[in-house]
Amino acid sequence: MLGKNSDGEVFLSSSDAPLVGLVKEVVYLEDGEYGWAKNQEITLLKNLIPQHLDFKPLTQDKLSAQKDGFRYFMEKEIYEQSLVVGETLMGRIKDNSVVLDELSTLDISHINAIKICACGTSYHAALCASYMFERLAKMQCTVEVASEFRYKEPLLDKQTLFIVISQSGETADTLEALKMAKNGGMLTLAICNVDNSTIVRTADMTILTRAGIEKGVASTKAFATQIITLWLLSLFVGEQKKVIDAAVLHNEIAALLRIPLALKVHEPTHEKIRRLSKRYLHGHGFFFIGRDLFYPLALEGALKLKEISYLHAEGYPAGEMKHGPIALADSELFTIALMPKTLLYDKMKSNVEELSARDSTLLVISPEVFELADDFIKTNAHNHPMGEFFEMMLITQLLALEISVRLGNDVDMPRNLAKSVTVE
Ligand code: G6P
Repeated sequence: MLGKNSDGEVFLSSSDAPLVGLVKEVVYLEDGEYGWAKNQEITLLKNLIPQHLDFKPLTQDKLSAQKDGFRYFMEKEIYEQSLVVGETLMGRIKDNSVVLDELSTLDISHINAIKICACGTSYHAALCASYMFERLAKMQCTVEVASEFRYKEPLLDKQTLFIVISQSGETADTLEALKMAKNGGMLTLAICNVDNSTIVRTADMTILTRAGIEKGVASTKAFATQIITLWLLSLFVGEQKKVIDAAVLHNEIAALLRIPLALKVHEPTHEKIRRLSKRYLHGHGFFFIGRDLFYPLALEGALKLKEISYLHAEGYPAGEMKHGPIALADSELFTIALMPKTLLYDKMKSNVEELSARDSTLLVISPEVFELADDFIKTNAHNHPMGEFFEMMLITQLLALEISVRLGNDVDMPRNLAKSVTVE
């Protein structure tokens, strides 16, 4: 996109975030357009034919591009999650039912499966969604990394709804996967945070996640709002398909509405994480482990840590440790165990005990005191797994942040990474 301010300065950018505060209007460029800026004049061509510069207002608020007293944008964005998740939910639940006006044209009766493609953090949100779609909407759901999907000569089934998830709406691999699905005649839906982005303009339908502008390269609030949107969507599909029981729906909606509260940062917990972080600056690696929905959360926790600390971290399904990874366990291997009380607690417990027996250093995150833990972060009791999910997400984000701060890294702009990856 390009923008121009009142001083005649011209800016080129691959997404809207860097332009906020610099320009008020932008032109979104289409494939095949090219041109130049000279003496404050912009020329845009396509196939040698001059194009009209269609300026559109840049909707993002300049205020959201400030740190508001926080040390880093990432920290501010972690603290904002409670608020923005409220935005995501706004107007989408009415009379104990999920309302998604964006999908008013969707005829679900033709759809019998879902395929999701995404990259990075958005891919982890997609993995979470696969549990929710199968559990709540009884809809088969497969997930693929967009860069893999593109070249595998995938079968494009017209009865499968194709979903892409992207914070920026500009990720090249995700966009190309979307174009392939669309060209193959599939119905496409984008879950995206940036209105007017290329992915939004390409997909048949879009649900905006409403996280507000996200500046930190390590995605936090965008992930939280993606999960909420996908949860709403699973319930919506379940309702449309008439496969969700009224009592289950009631319980899910009640749980959804409690998430903004679960996402409030508890200062003493943040302080504890700040103090604990000094013990986790070395070692030969981190294992983040979890089961079920907490497995993609473990992947996301590990990604957050490696993105900004440059330490080696991997996420694993806890039950998979015995099939190889446990060979790495010793006192210099740090295991971060996500042990929710409402989902497979006893299974997790035995997996963590196996790691403890191999002397791995254990940081357990759970509402239940775990005697074998070297370090322990106590979470609140919840009656729904997603309450635990979001509280643990918050803790893993803060842990990555504090480790990165202690290591003296640039939290908001980690080395080798970019916020929008517009190349393959
Ligand atoms: C980049 C960012 C990641 C992000 C991924 C997907 O690699 O550094 O934080 O998760 O792109 O981005 P998207 O905008 O498509 O969600």
